[in-house]
Amino acid sequence: MALFGLVTSSTGILGMLSEDHRRVESLFEEFKNAENAASRLRIARQAIAELKIHAQIEEELFYPAVRARSSDEKAADMVGEAVEEHHVVKLLISELEGKSGVDDVFKHKFTVLSELVVHHAQEEEKEMFPAAESGDLNLERLGERAAERKRELQKAMTTGIRTPRTGRRRRTRTAARGARGNRVRAQGSGRGRKPAAARKK
Ligand SMILES: [Fe+2]
Ligand SMILES: [Fe+2]
Repeated sequence: MALFGLVTSSTGILGMLSEDHRRVESLFEEFKNAENAASRLRIARQAIAELKIHAQIEEELFYPAVRARSSDEKAADMVGEAVEEHHVVKLLISELEGKSGVDDVFKHKFTVLSELVVHHAQEEEKEMFPAAESGDLNLERLGERAAERKRELQKAMTTGIRTPRTGRRRRTRTAARGARGNRVRAQGSGRGRKPAAARKK
């Protein structure tokens, strides 16, 4: 069951953002139930990569559209508060990325991050999504632009949490999988790079 207790909307960008919320909430649950530090590290990397991309898409595309086009008079305040909440999320992420491996402090910080994100996403879905639906936003078109931007960000995404022994930062499996999945979907829909055999025709 969804922690946020809200039905996922399927309308353009709102559907995409809702799906992101569901995905990170299930990663938060997985983190809570993980049995060892290696699993927690893998899950935290995945969640952080998802959160960074999600926040960037909201700030670049969704929030400006809500601020400019919603007919809800509280829209500007909603967006302003949401940006400040993102700021706190980013601070916590940068602290987590500064750590090497998953110790107790990491677990506590990640738990606070997850609680903050759950609360933030609830407010978005209860207040900002209806505000977006009330205005003259083109939610479908925004959804297309957001999907395109997501593919770009997934290709470039790295998460800064270091692997304990090597100290190396690496590309997340989530981001790599997401980029691959998007390429396959793009080919299936006739977009993207065609297979070599098809290009020769
Ligand atoms: Fe947000
Ligand atoms: Fe969100």
